[in-house]
Amino acid sequence: MDSTRSLRRVLWMAVVGFALLGAVLSQANTAKEPQQNVPRDALGAASPEYQQKALAKLMPERDVSKITEVFDPVIRNAFIPKDNDLTAKRVELGKKLYFDKRLSADGTVSCATCHDVTRGFTDQLAVSKGIDGQLGKRNAPTTLNSILLQTLFWDGRSPTLDNQAKQPILNPVEMGMADENAAMKAIRGDPEYQKMFREAYGRDMNYEDLGRAIGAFERTLVFMDSPFRRFLAGDDRAISAEAQAGFELYNGKARCAACHPMSPSNPLGTDNRFHNVGVSARHQDFEALGRRAVKLLKEDSSEQKLDELAVGTDLSELGRFMVTRNRVDMGSFRTPLILNVGITPPYMHDGSLMTLWDVIDHYNKGGEANPFLDGGIEPLALTEEEINQLVAFLFTLTDVRFADENQRQFNRQQAAAKKNRPIRDEAIANRQVIPFEKRVMGTKATKK
Ligand code: HEC
Ligand code: HEC
Repeated sequence: MDSTRSLRRVLWMAVVGFALLGAVLSQANTAKEPQQNVPRDALGAASPEYQQKALAKLMPERDVSKITEVFDPVIRNAFIPKDNDLTAKRVELGKKLYFDKRLSADGTVSCATCHDVTRGFTDQLAVSKGIDGQLGKRNAPTTLNSILLQTLFWDGRSPTLDNQAKQPILNPVEMGMADENAAMKAIRGDPEYQKMFREAYGRDMNYEDLGRAIGAFERTLVFMDSPFRRFLAGDDRAISAEAQAGFELYNGKARCAACHPMSPSNPLGTDNRFHNVGVSARHQDFEALGRRAVKLLKEDSSEQKLDELAVGTDLSELGRFMVTRNRVDMGSFRTPLILNVGITPPYMHDGSLMTLWDVIDHYNKGGEANPFLDGGIEPLALTEEEINQLVAFLFTLTDVRFADENQRQFNRQQAAAKKNRPIRDEAIANRQVIPFEKRVMGTKATKK
């Protein structure tokens, strides 16, 4: 009797053990490389066919006009241009253009190369690679939720998605078309496009409508259903206690919300303003760069020239200064939206920070000293525990439809951060209690 019972127990333990092991292994697998079998091109992008299938799975909605109904009508109307209301035909056309490599000079690059459905709608590279493997100087932001951005590009040089979309096609290190005519020539003979343009805009194909259609498509990429949002809506268990503590730090001691506010009318986590948070400053002589920029822009300050200089040369580091030529804007960049930030590494305008731990270390250090550093950036005296809490919080901002990729990124970044935290030591050396903390928080803000 006793021996059968213990045999049964052993068997049960074996069964449970195997099941657990299986679960752990499959978890480790998905967390590590669920994307192993994705067909990828030389630039690392998933094939257009694969991406479109993945997109259809993410967004099964047929009625695109419904997508923006999540917004207050006042907000929605502010971000949909008068001459480009959202219609299914326009979105369908924009989608085709977004994935079409014919819009690049050598037929190898589309918008979806650098804003890839399988890579958080970015390329997950430090800086982007365009035709002939040319490297730009800037990190590709995600196209997700770009509908609500007040300006586009890291320096805000473009006012609308419709305008923005026309630029990468002509940029020599991105898609490399000589001019608008060359771009239109590449697709003009396609009868399907002729029909789709006509149905979408009621006239012949032209470059302005190409920009509008792509803009319309991008406006449907609304991915805001994050665990954090569910938490705000009242589901206390949507995020961990660690992440909740991170949210408190975000609004309090770490002062992130000063520039990355999140409110019902502005849920993106950006103030849409420009700040020098000491990223460029690692290795820049702003004054010399500024003089060169002013000289070059005197010769040609067209939209296209500005785009070329900003993306393809070391003047990139001047940031907003290139647009305003105002000294106070040296090295300042638009606060990026931080929804889905877990799945869009590396970070910052130059992709210089590999993980969200590195990002917090950067702020904890107080950024890189430079004459144009924003007043809001000071050493923070965050402890390791608090850093982990902030990172845990940032990972709750990813839409639940990307939960697998988010978990994979968390594991990958955590492993990388365990091995190497380049800024942590400097951050610790800089650690200090800010005068305001000493006064307001009393003994709570002791040095650790
Ligand atoms: C070679 C890679 C590459 C290609 C191709 C490319 N982009 Fe980008 N994209 C970038 C980079 C890099 C930036 C940031 C440039 C800057 O801020 O100066 C960017 C910025 C953007 C932004 C601004 C986002 C923000 O937060 O301000 C949008 C929107 C965008 N791209 C859409 C597109 C569209 C639409 C296409 C196709 C017509 C396209 N991109 C093609 C790399 C690329
Ligand atoms: C003074 C304004 C300001 C404050 C305060 C601030 N940020 Fe930022 N944040 C920015 C700007 C501007 C950038 C882009 C800087 C660049 O690339 O040069 C940025 C970039 C980031 C990025 C990179 C996003 C990406 O996609 O590359 C993350 C993440 C981030 N901030 C999180 C935080 C957190 C967390 C805090 C609080 C510890 C914080 N920020 C405090 C303005 C600010």
